[in-house]
Amino acid sequence: MTKDLLTLATFPDEDFFKVLERAELLKAAHARKEERWTLKGRTLAMIFEKSSTRTRVSFEAGMSQLGGHAIFLSPSDTQIGRGEEIRDTARVLSRYVDAIMVRTYSQESVEEMAKHASVPVINGLTDKHHPCQVMADLLTIKERFGRLEGLKLAYVGDGNNMANSLIEGCVKAGIDISLACPEGYDPDPGVLAWAKGAGGQRGAKKGTGGARKGEVNLVREPKAAADGADVLYTDVWASMGQESEKAAREKHFRGFQINSGLLGKAKPDAVVLHCLPAHRGEEITDEVMEGRNSAVFDQAENRLHAQKALLELLITG
Ligand code: CP
Ligand code: NVA
Repeated sequence: MTKDLLTLATFPDEDFFKVLERAELLKAAHARKEERWTLKGRTLAMIFEKSSTRTRVSFEAGMSQLGGHAIFLSPSDTQIGRGEEIRDTARVLSRYVDAIMVRTYSQESVEEMAKHASVPVINGLTDKHHPCQVMADLLTIKERFGRLEGLKLAYVGDGNNMANSLIEGCVKAGIDISLACPEGYDPDPGVLAWAKGAGGQRGAKKGTGGARKGEVNLVREPKAAADGADVLYTDVWASMGQESEKAAREKHFRGFQINSGLLGKAKPDAVVLHCLPAHRGEEITDEVMEGRNSAVFDQAENRLHAQKALLELLITG
């Protein structure tokens, strides 16, 4: 069966931990300038229906560092923008390339692509999930603390794609996650139900990581979430596609900011993460972004290493 990465909940635990381990090795090899051409002659198609800096460049650079090639496809230059059906695009691209990465609006579109493609499909962000970002986030946390299990992560802000994928990733990794979202902006109920139910307790295997599942806690007060946290995480108040809600969101999200006061509630060596792009002065202050607790640029770099590991796993097995 073709393996895809559509959400972290549906990504097998074994693969999830394998990617994190392999990413550390690939990062070390990259630092020694020892690239391994494990994807020589392989091609990745990348469909972007939304803007991107990190996702596009890290996938493209990652493919070339592994000896392969990536093709950037935008709807305006392809038949996708003229209404060619996803199921047809999926079947045609599968005849040319070894994997397809998609950044789009609805999660159903990525699922549809995966259903009809005969090559692996990677979710490069939808309105509901951003699993590749969370693999890089977990790699960054593991680097900083030497472990994942038993840590506490506080997420402050919108219960959006980042919040949903962070919940799934933290549950799998054994990190307890507290989320402070304004009323009306909670994470997806299906994701919360998964975390509470069988999904969140499934597949724990001793020795492979994942022996302990993380707990999810919803609070309203940023300070309550940040209390004693090892990791503070935030994301923009208005995501791509929500531009028309910007003014209303600015009102509802005031106070949902990582600033030095909030940082003071976390552990002294807490790490601050942000998937980027950031809006300094809104969800995070300039001072914290540039401060000693911030790991946001290591986090951005880790997109490259985590995705190289993911591409190897999905394309060569
Ligand atoms: N974090 C992230 O996915 O960034 P881009 O939108 O620049 O790809
Ligand atoms: N929540 C943000 C994440 C960007 C990487 C968005 O969807 O725009």
